[in-house]
Amino acid sequence: MMFKTLNNGVEMPMLGYGVYQTPPEDTERCVAEALEVGYRLIDTAQAYGNEAGVGAAVAKSGIPRDEVFITSKVWVSNMNYERAKASIDESLRALGTDYLDLMLLHQIMGDYPGAWRALEEAYHAGKIRAIGVSNCYPERLVDLCTLAEVQPAVNQIETHPLRPEHEAHANMDDLGVAHEAWAPFAEGRNGIFQNPVLAAVGERYGKTPAQVVLRALLQQGVIVIPKSTHRDRMEQNFDVFDFELTDEDMAQVATLEDPSFPRIFDHFDVSTIKWLLGDLVRQQQLGGATLY
Ligand SMILES: NC(=O)c1ccc[n+]([C@@H]2O[C@H](COP(=O)([O-])OP(=O)(O)OC[C@H]3O[C@@H](n4cnc5c(N)ncnc54)[C@H](OP(=O)(O)O)[C@@H]3O)[C@@H](O)[C@H]2O)c1
Repeated sequence: MMFKTLNNGVEMPMLGYGVYQTPPEDTERCVAEALEVGYRLIDTAQAYGNEAGVGAAVAKSGIPRDEVFITSKVWVSNMNYERAKASIDESLRALGTDYLDLMLLHQIMGDYPGAWRALEEAYHAGKIRAIGVSNCYPERLVDLCTLAEVQPAVNQIETHPLRPEHEAHANMDDLGVAHEAWAPFAEGRNGIFQNPVLAAVGERYGKTPAQVVLRALLQQGVIVIPKSTHRDRMEQNFDVFDFELTDEDMAQVATLEDPSFPRIFDHFDVSTIKWLLGDLVRQQQLGGATLY
């Protein structure tokens, strides 16, 4: 396993297992299998509705809690100080643990500075070992890093060979924030698992396109959290530590970059933002949140 030392000294595995779109009823089985395969970083979120399945699998695995790195994320409907604070405790309860290794703000919208203060407070109280953000692009990241008391340790954004996010990566490097990729396979879009360039690179090492994608991201210093509900794919995605891509291989992978590839969730698109804000607006109408 490769590890990233976060800006507060916490060690984070660089390859983990994501459970977005894993149905709650399948999550315990999937995470139990992932732990058996060897994954020690599990990425969930309040919005996925499957924190309880993650917690149950970790508890029943017999693996000491301090050997598993658990990430969750505060959802948009909890994006102010009071609601974020309460939701951190709800996540801990659902996960059946008294601390999280990493808690992220899932989307940077609404009263996210207020929510950030709640994360800082939980961090100081020892409920969270590291705090960070997700879907935070350079302008807002520099704003947060300049004003926050506790610096974000991680920023999880959509990153894959079609959109490697080099500029965002350089900005994170400057700010000392670790880059974590969501959807490292672009959720299978554009035929990535059959891509002939990736297949040709992989053939030299007896590896699949999926393994080449993960290895290339890892070699760029990016943390990856591929998702699969299939054990054979969990194993395949974990088996990326016995080969190394050359500069020439990396240049081949880089040819996949395609700025015309539409982001899966485009945070520069107004309709996406309105859709994501819907949960917060509904919460406000119920009297549970204030906007700013
Ligand atoms: N912060 C955010 O806003 C955000 C957004 C999206 C995702 N995430 C996180 O990032 C994680 C990964 O992203 P993702 O789940 O969206 O997409 P992904 O990991 O890029 O792709 C998952 C898809 O690829 C398939 N797959 C996985 N390994 C494969 C392999 N070796 N060969 C062929 N197919 C394979 C999976 O199918 P099967 O399951 O059927 O095997 C699934 O359809 C999520 O689970 C979540 O934890 C975060």
